[in-house]
Amino acid sequence: MALITAIINFKGGVAKTTTTINLASGLKKLKERVLVIDTDPQGNVAVNLQGTEDIILDSKVLTISALFQDSRIDPNKAIIKGEYFDYIPNNLYAYQRTQGLSDYRLLKQIIDKVKHKYDQIIIDTPPYLGFDAINAIYSADALMLVTDFSKASLTGVQILVSVLDKWHEKNIAKIFRDKPKTILFTMHQPKTLLHRELLESVEDSKAVGMGIMLKERIPRLLKVVEDGYDGIPTVIANPRTKVATEYKSLADTWYFARQMGQIVGSRYIVDVPKGL
Ligand SMILES: Nc1ncnc2c1ncn2[C@@H]1O[C@H](COP(=O)(O)OP(=O)(O)O)[C@@H](O)[C@H]1O
Ligand SMILES: [Mg+2]
Repeated sequence: MALITAIINFKGGVAKTTTTINLASGLKKLKERVLVIDTDPQGNVAVNLQGTEDIILDSKVLTISALFQDSRIDPNKAIIKGEYFDYIPNNLYAYQRTQGLSDYRLLKQIIDKVKHKYDQIIIDTPPYLGFDAINAIYSADALMLVTDFSKASLTGVQILVSVLDKWHEKNIAKIFRDKPKTILFTMHQPKTLLHRELLESVEDSKAVGMGIMLKERIPRLLKVVEDGYDGIPTVIANPRTKVATEYKSLADTWYFARQMGQIVGSRYIVDVPKGL
């Protein structure tokens, strides 16, 4: 059985997609069977993978939005066997037809049809709390809140946590509260005093329900942007960089999480359903 992780933040541009593709590639290197599901209609998973950029311009490609729209389609048909990992893409064409959908259990029903083939399923999400993100949260075993050090991003995490905690649909609020939550810091600049102070103050975030802080911190590095243009995840393109070693450590943490049912943070450990 797969360990299902949703990568979330209310804010865009904080490295959710970069984290998704590098964690997925890192897990693949550990011989995990990995599926990425892109619930963001921007379709940036494919945009960041060499040779698959055209998916965002193809109105006929089978996307997760198309599966949301028509439950008779076999989700196995939407899986693309990528060079680094398998994925179900998304784009704006199919997304527009999902407007008006509200059933937050659709993604779980889709995943239930494919999860027997995978050890790890990673769900990338859009930077808003809509139908897609709620579906991702509902279907995941563990939530990874990804943030950079900006006030807007950290506030995004805080808002997301407090709003979901009191979500109008009580079922969702309880599910969110009970799900294991972790926080990953990206764009880290270790020499910056503000970053050091912020990390110290967030270290005790478990107490306020934001989840445990992961021990990995992803540094800011221009190569990551270049790798996006080249369409190769940084763990593959530049394996010796600190960004790659931190993402590989994150993959180790997730490998361990599936095997042992625990995610090890910087100070705390959180239990997750065993993926075995
Ligand atoms: N560690 C990093 N260092 C420098 N740039 C990064 C890093 N991680 C991501 N980026 C860049 O930041 C931008 C936003 O990242 P992305 O993963 O698309 O964010 P999101 O999915 O949260 O919107 C991209 O251009 C990406 O290449
Ligand atoms: Mg993204």
